[in-house]
Amino acid sequence: MPDVEDVLDAAGLRNEAVRAYVAHWAGVTGAERIEVVSAADDARLVREALDAGEIEPAGEGRYYSRSYYKDTARSEERTVVATSNPSDKGVYNNWRPSEEMKPLLEDKMRGQLAGKTMYVIPYLMSPPGSPLEKYAAGVELTDNRTVVLHMIRMARVGIDLINELAEPDHFVRAVHVTGDLPNLGQGTADDQRWFVTVADERTILHYGSSYGGNALLGKIAHGLRQAAYDGWASRDFLSEQFMLIGITDKQTGKKWHVCGGFPSASGKTNLAMMLAPEGLGDRYHVSFYGDDIAWLWVDPSDGRLYGMNPEFGVFGVAKDTNERTNPTALESVAERTEVLFTNVAYNTDTHEVWWEGKTPAPPSDVTGWHDWKGEKISDRSARDDSPWAHPNSRFTTTLANVPNVAEDFEDPKGVPIDGIIFGGRTSDREPLVRAITDLAEGVYDGLTLGAEATFAAEGVDGQLRYDPMSMRPFMAYAEGDYAEHWLRIVGAATEQPIFAHVNWFQKDPDDGHFLWPGYRDNLRPLLWLMQLKDGEVTGRRTPVGILPTEEELDLTGMDVPQEDLDRVLSIDVDRWRQEMGFREEHLQQFDRLPESIWEAHRRVTAALEEG
Ligand code: GDP
Ligand code: PGA
Ligand code: MN
Ligand code: MN
Repeated sequence: MPDVEDVLDAAGLRNEAVRAYVAHWAGVTGAERIEVVSAADDARLVREALDAGEIEPAGEGRYYSRSYYKDTARSEERTVVATSNPSDKGVYNNWRPSEEMKPLLEDKMRGQLAGKTMYVIPYLMSPPGSPLEKYAAGVELTDNRTVVLHMIRMARVGIDLINELAEPDHFVRAVHVTGDLPNLGQGTADDQRWFVTVADERTILHYGSSYGGNALLGKIAHGLRQAAYDGWASRDFLSEQFMLIGITDKQTGKKWHVCGGFPSASGKTNLAMMLAPEGLGDRYHVSFYGDDIAWLWVDPSDGRLYGMNPEFGVFGVAKDTNERTNPTALESVAERTEVLFTNVAYNTDTHEVWWEGKTPAPPSDVTGWHDWKGEKISDRSARDDSPWAHPNSRFTTTLANVPNVAEDFEDPKGVPIDGIIFGGRTSDREPLVRAITDLAEGVYDGLTLGAEATFAAEGVDGQLRYDPMSMRPFMAYAEGDYAEHWLRIVGAATEQPIFAHVNWFQKDPDDGHFLWPGYRDNLRPLLWLMQLKDGEVTGRRTPVGILPTEEELDLTGMDVPQEDLDRVLSIDVDRWRQEMGFREEHLQQFDRLPESIWEAHRRVTAALEEG
């Protein structure tokens, strides 16, 4: 055991509460070495990781890493929110008493770092100076150098961020222990993994993974789950799985800001990185603020709803990223971006990376190519057509690398929110866009977001499931209270944002092709939404919201078959009536659901009955 005091003195870590926390966990885990890291250590840590074979080179300033093959997605099953108050139990947060979970996790972690280094990562989940900064500080402890490299890209990391806290004890204690991955029984009845947020103690204890969402504790466990709890407990803010973009009309100089939630692997990152489509690029520009998390609050100085991205980087889905779908993403992972690729296919001779959809077909010369499990493609049988890259393979790059990042992305003031959108993968029923102008109806719509499951979480692909506001995996407290908190925060804004439900994924029932081309063309319905908010168009009223008429949607430079367009701009009333029954059952699960949400449900139901 090192002398903790000496190590922390040498590193210049002065915050006494942080020092006590580090000393406690050094004792529990039996760490052999302790190392406090800052972003400035990145180049050295990269060299060490290369030397140790933890990452491989993938071109200049690009690196490849592989996580254990049974550890490639967030585990929702093993993720728990623990508090000491049973009324925090919700439908989705897997609530457990903290008195049960804390000793369990401490037991799991005991002695696990014998012979290993414990990295101490002080971080901030906000731009410095943000009005929400007091909820943003954290210190992750981890035994995994690749996790450190990811954290340096995804969060602001440095000792200075933690030394001078206004309230020295007000930081999130985030402990991560990888565990012996081949012997954790992932997915079996004897699963050893636990990912616990002790929300009322602002403590995160994650054991048994080195994959992003389970191991980068600043991002999801703190940035979403803990922050959602903090925002509610303090009545100060909302934390949501939202992207956040700016849309500028270069002709008029007008700028709007839109945020919104789609479940994991449903298009947030792509939307945030969007270039204006063919025919509209001269006039409009989309700027990137965030692609996965937004914190929202009302600024008392002007009464408006504001939003900001607490993260510092992008953890993006690689699959189907190419020059046509997302050139911005490719540029953000180009040479010298210090990007990390995880679980893509890798060529050990040429150091190239590949994923499904990067090019129409995989490289024809398979020499040197290995799949995401590290198995040689040349050893595969001819019948094996399983993907080379894991469907949830990722790239990790910093916001500064994103070509369309907003000029003011680090402005601590945040940006005023004009629109809030919800969406997901829904192959029928949901039109391209339907706008909602009433707050309770907007919140109701978010709560009844249903989408097909994706590969970003363990589970079955293709099954429809409800995912309130895309927060199902990150719910920190009871859903009824969550709805009430939404009504309170957004309701306090003097200028109400417009809500909308969008769907880029409706399919032709006969041949399964996507009816809407998606990607860059998704700007078109968003422009319509902003014009609707500004009273420039009126749309067409339906029982489930306002839809654009075909004439109102700017389709300049676009070629979409008329019958596909008709379908994405219409409502299938019978399907919707059936859906209302499912929604009723879904909402009935929630305790303390505000009456105004039920009223919204009854209004939509009645409107559909009338036809
Ligand atoms: P996120 O996890 O919500 O950030 O989703 P991503 O933006 O990373 O996208 C997840 C997957 O959906 C990727 O494979 C994208 O290529 C694909 N995708 C994103 N936007 C669209 C779209 O508009 N249409 C279609 N068909 N696919 C999309
Ligand atoms: P995603 O982010 O939403 O882009 O997939 C990561 C995650 O939610 O696990
Ligand atoms: Mn996400
Ligand atoms: Mn994303």
